[in-house]
Amino acid sequence: MSGSEFVVVANRLPVDWVPDEDEGSGEGAWRVSPGGLVTALEPLMRSTDGAWVGWPGKADLEFDRFEFDGMDLVPVALSADDVELYYEGFSNDTIWPLYHDVIAEPRYRRVWWDAYGRVNRRFAQAAAEVAAEGATVWVHDYQLQLVPKLLREKRPDLTIGYFHHIPFPAYGLYSQLPWRRQVLEGLLGADVIGFQRVADAGNFARAIRRLLRYETRAPHIVVPDADGGTRTAVARAFPISIAADSYIDLAQRPHVQARAAEIRASLGNPSKILLGVDRLDYTKGIRHRMKAFGELLHEGRITVEDATLVQVASPSRERVGAYMQLRDEIELTVGRINGDFDTMGHTAIRYLHQGYPRDEMVALFLAADVMLVTALRDGMNLVAKEYVASRIDNRGVLVLSEFAGAADELTSALRVNPHDIDTLKETIMQAIEMPPGEQSRRMRPLRRKVIDNDVAKWSRSFLDALAAARSQKSPRGRRARA
Ligand code: G6P
Repeated sequence: MSGSEFVVVANRLPVDWVPDEDEGSGEGAWRVSPGGLVTALEPLMRSTDGAWVGWPGKADLEFDRFEFDGMDLVPVALSADDVELYYEGFSNDTIWPLYHDVIAEPRYRRVWWDAYGRVNRRFAQAAAEVAAEGATVWVHDYQLQLVPKLLREKRPDLTIGYFHHIPFPAYGLYSQLPWRRQVLEGLLGADVIGFQRVADAGNFARAIRRLLRYETRAPHIVVPDADGGTRTAVARAFPISIAADSYIDLAQRPHVQARAAEIRASLGNPSKILLGVDRLDYTKGIRHRMKAFGELLHEGRITVEDATLVQVASPSRERVGAYMQLRDEIELTVGRINGDFDTMGHTAIRYLHQGYPRDEMVALFLAADVMLVTALRDGMNLVAKEYVASRIDNRGVLVLSEFAGAADELTSALRVNPHDIDTLKETIMQAIEMPPGEQSRRMRPLRRKVIDNDVAKWSRSFLDALAAARSQKSPRGRRARA
């Protein structure tokens, strides 16, 4: 097979392997994972005959390259050890907590780092094998920070982009990382390094200056080349978004609207429905929002007839200690609050430890009068944008943490510091009591923002920046001018 002109490299493939009931049979089927990245990149993958390099999501599964729904997929196998050390360990117990401002304590283990290097090399090798001469390769996220450098060493002819979907922390925290230089050098293998927020790109540039002493002048970083010269990498913000159209389309469908009414009725038609939708992750501030809600009930400022909180918490990283502990804490809290306040006909918190398909989510967004996004730290938070896009009636109130990347763009939301429980309570009351006129005055500009800046625009602007980097390269893969 000839090489691909466009290659995406991400920890996960856009499809998951779902084994048959009878697990031992080895049979099963591929299912498109609901993630936003697939939606963003699918059209591009088709128009460029692109390939996607990634993990099928289960340990010890060896698959050959295959085609799925017109996409060319290149599976990278991870052993049970790789999953434990590279995915659960270094990616999700070292980098994830460190990059989210140490909300949970990062653990620094040398065997995890070794596995991270080993697996990153495997991804780089797979990408190097499928990319055509002079191709564009787009690497995604914190699980693969070493891939850009490894790939450049193998294939200097390629144009390499990297997008960082999570925050990049301030230097005072980043500097804890025992492998802080290696990670920066890994990322600097890319021609363009994209971040969610201007502040993330700033933190990255500062870490470069402090640790590597390279010259930076935003958005440029002067990087020494293998042959003693220099090249210029670009590091700047490209805030990610959603396929707004598909949410609008679903929100207009009669069966989704009917489902929204059914959800309200099945909750006993409380006056207001508050909604939280998150992966069950300690960065999301789920406990903070439950604390605020529980106190409002305790104080009698609301009753379960006035307001029900629906909390969808999809299962995530369930073998990592901090996630197990969080689940226990949340389930204890839900049990206590419901035990104290539920009546036969109404519940305080409807807690759902499950994931749902997109049409069910849009029905929930339509049913929810108040959307609570109280993340303690979040790269972007696409749920906030999904809620806004779904509100075709220009109603509903978004309560949005200032620590979510989305706060930079969604400025007419009710902004909160989720650590400040008293103010969070006041903001929830303000949201519950907000008159319809004010709801729509706030919702309209939010919707404009999300509709005008959808995910197609995001990928286009990143790829335009990559194309600009590419046009400055000489055919042999080095820059004509630094
Ligand atoms: C975040 C990360 C993604 C990751 C997703 C789900 O959004 O930025 O890279 O894929 O969480 O986490 P998981 O560990 O299940 O892939």
